[in-house]
Amino acid sequence: MTLAHWGKILWEHWGIEAELTRLDGEYDLNFLAKGLDGQGYVLKAMRPGCEEWLVDMQVKAFEHIARQLPDLPCPRVIVSISGASLLKLADGEGRDRLVWLLNQLPGRCYAKAEPKTDALIHEIGQVLGNAARALADFHHQGLERDFKWNLMQAGWITDQLFCITDPARRAILQDVAAEFSHLEPVLAKLRKQAIHNDANDYNIMVAGELGAARRVSGLIDLGDMCVAPRVCDLAIAAAYIVLDHPAPEAALASIVAGYHAAYPLTAAEVDLVWPLLQMRLAVSVVNSTLMAANNPDDPYVTISQAPAWRFLESNGLNSGLVKARLRAACGLPVVEGADRVMAWLDQERGGFAPLMGADLVDAPMGSLSVEHSTWPQNPFHMPLEEAARVGEEFEDEGRIWLGYYAEPRLIYTDTAFRRGPWKASNRRTVHLAVDAFAPAGTAMFAPLRGEVIAAENRSRHLDYGGVIILRHETPDGDSFYTLYGHLDPEFLNRLKPGDTVERGEEFCRLGDPSQNGGWAPHVHFQLALTTEGIETDWPGVGDPDEMYLWQALCPNPAALLNLPAEKVLYQPTRKDDVLAGRRAYFGGNLSLTYSNPVMLVRGWKHHLFDEWGRPYLDAYNNVPHVGHAHPRIQAVAADQLKRVNSNTRYLHPAQTAFAEKVLSKLPDHFEVCFFVNSGTEANELALRLARAHTGKKGMVTPDHGYHGNTTGAISLSAYKFNKPKGIGKVDWVELVEVADDYRGSYRRDDPDRAQKYAALVDAAILKLQDAGHGVAGFIAETFPSVGGQIIPPKGYLSAVYRKIRAAGGICIADEVQTGLGRLGECYFGFEHQGALPDIVVMGKPIGNGHPLGVLVTTKEIAESFDNGIEFFSTFGGSTLSCRIGKEVLDIVDDESLQENARSQGKRLIEGLKMLEQKYTCVGDVRGMGLFLGLELINPDGSQATEICSYVKNRMRDHRILIGSEGPKDNILKIRPPLTIDTDGTDMIVKTLDRILREVEAS
Ligand SMILES: Cc1ncc(COP(=O)(O)O)c(C=O)c1O
Repeated sequence: MTLAHWGKILWEHWGIEAELTRLDGEYDLNFLAKGLDGQGYVLKAMRPGCEEWLVDMQVKAFEHIARQLPDLPCPRVIVSISGASLLKLADGEGRDRLVWLLNQLPGRCYAKAEPKTDALIHEIGQVLGNAARALADFHHQGLERDFKWNLMQAGWITDQLFCITDPARRAILQDVAAEFSHLEPVLAKLRKQAIHNDANDYNIMVAGELGAARRVSGLIDLGDMCVAPRVCDLAIAAAYIVLDHPAPEAALASIVAGYHAAYPLTAAEVDLVWPLLQMRLAVSVVNSTLMAANNPDDPYVTISQAPAWRFLESNGLNSGLVKARLRAACGLPVVEGADRVMAWLDQERGGFAPLMGADLVDAPMGSLSVEHSTWPQNPFHMPLEEAARVGEEFEDEGRIWLGYYAEPRLIYTDTAFRRGPWKASNRRTVHLAVDAFAPAGTAMFAPLRGEVIAAENRSRHLDYGGVIILRHETPDGDSFYTLYGHLDPEFLNRLKPGDTVERGEEFCRLGDPSQNGGWAPHVHFQLALTTEGIETDWPGVGDPDEMYLWQALCPNPAALLNLPAEKVLYQPTRKDDVLAGRRAYFGGNLSLTYSNPVMLVRGWKHHLFDEWGRPYLDAYNNVPHVGHAHPRIQAVAADQLKRVNSNTRYLHPAQTAFAEKVLSKLPDHFEVCFFVNSGTEANELALRLARAHTGKKGMVTPDHGYHGNTTGAISLSAYKFNKPKGIGKVDWVELVEVADDYRGSYRRDDPDRAQKYAALVDAAILKLQDAGHGVAGFIAETFPSVGGQIIPPKGYLSAVYRKIRAAGGICIADEVQTGLGRLGECYFGFEHQGALPDIVVMGKPIGNGHPLGVLVTTKEIAESFDNGIEFFSTFGGSTLSCRIGKEVLDIVDDESLQENARSQGKRLIEGLKMLEQKYTCVGDVRGMGLFLGLELINPDGSQATEICSYVKNRMRDHRILIGSEGPKDNILKIRPPLTIDTDGTDMIVKTLDRILREVEAS
């Protein structure tokens, strides 16, 4: 009845025929109206008795915004046929209501939108800033009301704090309210204007499909408008943005920077954001506590407080640092006078007393960067003996050398440098000082007069040891600070806070490793423009993604060393330059993973590091089978290259040692090894062997397989030749359907599926025989990988082998992906199938990155191939390859990596199965050991290519490298080095959980 009534009104007064549905609303009636033309509207029928000025204010404000900034995503008021924006009409019960109509905006509310990226939050700030800009000259009598939600009047909570019975919580609010009361006079002086005043997470709309960037599609609901300083508007929106955000300080910086970009703020306004934000949350919880007292049966009132309390009680943010951060995010001086200090330092450059008592202009620079240095060998652990030797390669008989400012380094390995729960979480890597390396005992002189504000011995391992902080003053009276770390703490006998050190005065000296935290002797010389928020505990390194803050707070101190800034400023290789070079020098089909590619310059076990030292969990690469940069591989390679690296035309014990090791892992009927350079070459050779042995040409292989990039191997790789511009199938190859019992012709509910898939080989054999090719053999990835990480039903391969042998062919197991312990339960995939091939091909992992392929076969087949023509592969079986190959297999044994693949694989698959239960887009979880696949599907069960691409790219954003496979590229491929640990497997599951939640939310 109601819907029909309002539908009729819409038709009669606006001429719009539409289908109505009721929207939420506490007092007013709101309807979503879908017009027959597909256009959406929101019909608003205010509660009876609603004051007209309140609605008139909103209508006029929307109309004002539309005139001032027509592109701003705010709803438009639709005028009625009579030309009115606001009508007074009777509802179904005959009561008068004020009725108006808006167009509907696309998207969903921010509260329900995912992911909440910094870019999206920045845009929210921009939209809000623009809305305030548009409203700057909007006036309406209604704006001047007394209003508990006007932040300027928020002091009302002070008298109501008694309602918060928990003393700890009350104390938090008392502090917030006390700070607010100090700021009230500041607030009162700011210009006031019309503001939205309630840009909470339900009043901001966000649009954008999966994979596309999210954008702000609406700022709605002007019902809480009032007149106040515009910063109140920003603080209110920010108060919702930070709630339950994993990095609230970054989110806050984004919204403030966005606002500033649209409607520039003053430093004084920026300083108010944080205290006002907290005050808004305080008003919120006090208000709902009071309401709860009036509505004791409404649990919603208290539930809605939970995120605000969580934030107020445990955000752990330092207000001084937040202030500096927000100023830096806006490009404003981090502290009053910071710009003057920098100008003064620049002007005085060259006139400061030399810190080391010597001119440093010609001092050489030494890089300890992620890119240029290998300190420490293990980027997760800096042992005592390495710390004491850091940079020894730059040692030159005690001559001073300098370490760079803004240089990313991996030498800071303590978990205190980590910014999240995982080894691959963000990490502080970027050096915020200049180092001067010189012998222990070297005296240091104050560059200028300063007051000691800290003189301490921080003797913890890898801390500063002796450290001094001085406060200085420019002639204009602006303060700044310098820090000297890694000192001999002997100064403690002489210096204490409050003392003065004169310009040029010798005031301390470099410590040795027993005094300076354990490091090679050097001073860490850092400048800071304020100590607010960092006090005497300055971070010496910062997160590479937060350099906008740290470089503003602790700028390049070169001037104080009388050096040009460029000399000590680290210039990393720019990823964009490398990318441009790639595009210039290489073919377009040399593909690059991720929409935002990664540049990787170091690795360790199952982690990789980019040029800024950001760690990534490598859950994709199977080549570093025993882990990236394995010390034993490094040692063997270096050792052998010092001796000889020759070929198989000469004898070397490494050749037979490697062959014996390989054969020890295989059934006895394999007796002969061929060493080549790659999986491709091994498969190419396998094809020749099969043909030599059988005298036939034809090959059978499953669809979507991959065996390499040469002409012969490509002909066996449907994954390549069947691509739209592929070479197509040659007549001597016959394809059979992959034994995919999740999506293929025979599914898991069919007990005979293994035999049924195997039977498909019969037709292929007949075809080859009919065509006159005969059957040389069958080649398959034992578990198809590029086909979608498929585990064929047990018994499939042995049944196929029987048929192939009956037709005179031989059976080739391509174990490039599956061999060498990855499957956990078995060393090779064919063991799981109860099958015995005639040829086994190994590649990639067997060299751990060194180019190496191995083929093993029976004596008979090798003899058929031995027709008097020499077989020679120049580098295949080189001395170095043999040493490395054997070392890899030894490491798998010595470090129990097959067992690790079994146990971590089990943990991973259990976690993934939980996700399968939780998310409808996860169709299948399959695999063995560390050879795993997660098939993503659309609601109709079809292959979800787009979702897969989204998840893969988002995993990269969250520092996990995984791949995607399958004919429709909808299967996530998880295939880490065998060293992966619980930290890694749990990170994969937890991060996937988060990203799949984003998928389901979009
Ligand atoms: C199953 C399989 N066989 C063979 C190859 C070819 O190996 P390579 O690239 O070392 O020549 C690959 C490479 O991805 C593979 O996955």
